[in-house]
Amino acid sequence: MTDTSAEPRIIVALDFPRPEPARELVARLDPSLCRLKVGKEMFTRLGPAFVEELTAAGFQVFLDLKFHDIPNTVAAACAAAADLGVWMVNLHASGGRRMMETARERLAGYSRRPLLIAVTILTSLSDPELAEIGFSGSAADNVQRLARLTDDCGLDGIVCSPLEAALVRPRVRDGFLLVTPGVRPASAARDDQRRVMTPADALDNGADMLVIGRPITAAPDPLQSLRDIRREIAARD
Ligand code: C5P
Repeated sequence: MTDTSAEPRIIVALDFPRPEPARELVARLDPSLCRLKVGKEMFTRLGPAFVEELTAAGFQVFLDLKFHDIPNTVAAACAAAADLGVWMVNLHASGGRRMMETARERLAGYSRRPLLIAVTILTSLSDPELAEIGFSGSAADNVQRLARLTDDCGLDGIVCSPLEAALVRPRVRDGFLLVTPGVRPASAARDDQRRVMTPADALDNGADMLVIGRPITAAPDPLQSLRDIRREIAARD
């Protein structure tokens, strides 16, 4: 069965240029307390074997490759992710309805299909940059429109900032997953993230799951940091 449960809510972003520190970190984490996100850098360096290593260690993996291509190619890539046994995979909503629906239909054939979520508008894009590539309206307008389109195409959710979560939550169906990066525990450094929110505030804004990297991966004791964040969240409930 596809695992749609929110728990564990924390997805640790494994952003490392080399396998050794990633493996060291993973050995110190616990699959009952977090999921893991593998992005373009690690996947391009280490390939599917690394993802298999993580799943063999008991972790659910979010393969964050943000597919964007013609429908047949994206659907085939999603099928490859499903064959790899990942728990979640994503694509760009701006690839359009047919691309999203074809990918969803392709995954529907799997008894344990990965969750399929979309990126709406990259949070790195400013309103003038969006205008330059031909989007009309603000980033917030486009996020809401693409979130509704993603919902309409029957996908499982979107990746969005905690600020966007508050805008999107009332406009999508119950159970539509909002996965938010840009989260920092009250005590942590902000690193290069600009518009950050605490885990509790992100959940209050409607987020279901939190992608957290450096506050855990760069902590002297990553497991302790993960436990502290979980405690911070639990205190809110
Ligand atoms: O270390 P940090 O917690 O900032 O890592 C956040 C993770 O979420 C990184 O893998 C980053 O690429 C990803 N991400 C993000 N902001 C977005 C989309 C993805 O920080 N808008």
